[in-house]
Amino acid sequence: MRIDIITVLPELLEGPFAHSILKRATNKGLAEVHVHQLRNYGTGNHQQVDDYQYGGGAGMVMQCGPLVDCIEDLQKDREYDAILYMTPDGKHYNQSDANQLSMFSAIMIICGHYKGIDQRVRDHWITHEFSIGDFVLSGGELAAAAISDSIIRLIPGVLNDETSALTDSFQDNLLAPPVYTRPEDFRGHKVPEILTSGNTKAIEIWREEQSYERTKSRRPDLLND
Ligand code: ADE
Repeated sequence: MRIDIITVLPELLEGPFAHSILKRATNKGLAEVHVHQLRNYGTGNHQQVDDYQYGGGAGMVMQCGPLVDCIEDLQKDREYDAILYMTPDGKHYNQSDANQLSMFSAIMIICGHYKGIDQRVRDHWITHEFSIGDFVLSGGELAAAAISDSIIRLIPGVLNDETSALTDSFQDNLLAPPVYTRPEDFRGHKVPEILTSGNTKAIEIWREEQSYERTKSRRPDLLND
């Protein structure tokens, strides 16, 4: 799978893809992430990519020209299954979106800054608009890194048994159960006895119950879904 990210701050994305599971995925050739500097498509001496908004008001808006030039440049080399725009007013991103996007072979992600991007790009070029939560980030880069991570880890072969996505929270609309490791007694706080009983069937049932109880108390909305 290939992910192309368009941004005015490529440096912000260097870290997230250089380590751990994402690095392993790229090393194994299972995923490719390419980051593009939007300013290369900007105009004038300052490689301008934004301008004042029509109608007045504080804050700059990212212009159609550079964004569409960059998108179309990338489209010359391949077809994209989706062009995503990261924005706080997008659809709330969830695990089912991650599952769907992980089946695509090429996606583009546009990171907004300032007041956002010209509505005409959203209307005519963007296919999906996602928010990663009800808070405002300074730009879409961290959101793009978060969703890229969630997609890449689902590609077959990226995770091994130990890190398998099957037992993740949300994979079956339930939160994951609590987990414990050694020591069995830490400053008087003990591991639930059932987990050291060796009774695998009872442990499985306990984990299911814990998942359900945790979801009921923390995220009852997931049960209603
Ligand atoms: N850009 C700024 N804030 C964002 C958010 N919450 N989700 C996605 N993209 C964003």
